[in-house]
Formats: sequence, structure tokens, C-alpha cells
Amino acid sequence: MKTIAISVQKGGCGKTTTSANLAAAIAGQGKRVLLIDNDPQSSLTLYSNLEREKTITEVYRGTASIQDIVQDWHGIDVAPADILLSQVEIEIAGRKDRRDILRNALSSVDEAYDFCIIDTAPGLGLLSVNAIMASDHVIIPMEPNPADIWGLELFMSTLNQIRKAKPNLTYRILLTSYNDRLKLHQSAKEAAEHHALNLYPVTIARNVKTAEAWGAHEPLLTYDPKNKNNITYKTIAEMEISE
Ligand SMILES: Nc1ncnc2c1ncn2[C@@H]1O[C@H](COP(=O)(O)OP(=O)(O)O)[C@@H](O)[C@H]1O
Ligand SMILES: [Mg+2]
Repeated sequence: MKTIAISVQKGGCGKTTTSANLAAAIAGQGKRVLLIDNDPQSSLTLYSNLEREKTITEVYRGTASIQDIVQDWHGIDVAPADILLSQVEIEIAGRKDRRDILRNALSSVDEAYDFCIIDTAPGLGLLSVNAIMASDHVIIPMEPNPADIWGLELFMSTLNQIRKAKPNLTYRILLTSYNDRLKLHQSAKEAAEHHALNLYPVTIARNVKTAEAWGAHEPLLTYDPKNKNNITYKTIAEMEISE
């Protein structure tokens, strides 16, 4: 199983949208996908419109396994979250294995799935550290603002800290809501290239259907099959499958 965390300290830059739609794109390639909501705000759980009776909170607390909590959403096994997950960060803070709880829980489903996608909360708290420690790769979604690119320094230093313990961990930045006619966006892309940050060769466009799919609780792939963002998600899926 290859595990990918979708993470960055900023909110509202497309983490949950990328998680849901990339999971759908990978599943669309015939892969078995586990999708984890690792955010107490539970946006992904709301997106997929799942019950919140048994959630990832229980997995962190050791009272349930991943297989106990997953629910089907368009052929993807989704592990939902709830607000109680916000307490977990405090509960686990004193534990010796506090950074490895999710990684250890995922080891039991290593053979059951080809891919695991983890949607994370904004910020670099212990829950996000658990997600990254459990992962082989990190996707960093970003709106193409030069200020956000500068703000990445903090995230990158945390990521590099984790990479000391996990030297094989890779990352790539995905520009979301990209409009190549805007000078601001072009200069943000140039800034990222200037800083030698790894960028995906494709970008997600801002379009209303991508946001509407959320309200319809559907992946963009079924909500608006002809949407050009589907091609982008598919390209990223193929890259991650082949690497
Ligand atoms: N490509 C896009 N085009 C239009 N709206 C988008 C796009 N990506 C995300 N959104 C909208 O922007 C908001 C924030 O996206 P979200 O994925 O929840 O970000 P995050 O998880 O980083 O907080 C949501 O309302 C979502 O529907
Ligand atoms: Mg989110």
C-alpha cells in the first residue's frame, strides 16, 4: 500500500477537494483505495456524507481498527472523522508512540489496499505529523499566491525534520485554483520554481462544478465527467501509481 498525505498548514487551499477527487481518480484506475479523514472539522466526512458513529478518533484511542470504521463511498473505503478527534491530540501528547499511532494502525490494512489517501487538518499539529509519518508521499495543495509560497518555509522545515526519520518520504506541490491568464499566478509559479520546490506539471483550475460536486456529495468524476479537472486528477493518479 502506498500512502499519501494531503497536507499544508493553511486552510481553504483545496486539501479536502484534492483528497476526495484524487482518491476517486486512483479508484478509477482499478486500484483499491482507503481514504482517511484525519481532520476534526470532518470536511471529507461531510463531503462524502457518511455516518459518524465510528470514526478515526476510535482508531487513535485504540478502541477500533481501520476495518471496523470504513464505509463505502463510490467504491472507496472511507474512514470518517468527528469533532472528538480534536481531543485526541491532547490525549496522545504524552505517549511515546505519539507520532506513529496512525502508521501502526495502517499496518493491519497494508495488504487490503493499493493506496491510502489521508486528508489532514490545517496546521502542523500532532495529527498532521501522524499523517505524514504514516505516508510515503506528501501532496501540498496551494493557491498560487507568492505570499503562500513564502509561507511554505515553515511547513517545509517541519517536513524536512520528519524526513530525517523517513528519508524516503517524497513531496510535491499541487497548484490549486490556477488561472494561467493571471500574472499573480504566473509569478507564484515562477517563485515556486525559483525556490526549486517540486511542482506537479499539472494544475487544478478553479471552477464552480468542482465546488458543486462537494454539495452533491459526489466525486467530480461522476458529478461532471467532462470537467477538465478530472484529466488533472487522472494525470496525478497515473503519476502516483507509476512512481
Ligand atoms: N478547484 C476548485 N474550484 C472551485 N472551488 C474549489 C476548488 N477547490 C476547492 N474549492 C472550494 O474551496 C473551498 C476550500 O476547499 P477545501 O478543499 O475544503 O480546502 P481545505 O481542505 O484545504 O480547507 C471549498 O468550499 C471548496 O468547494
Ligand atoms: Mg479540508
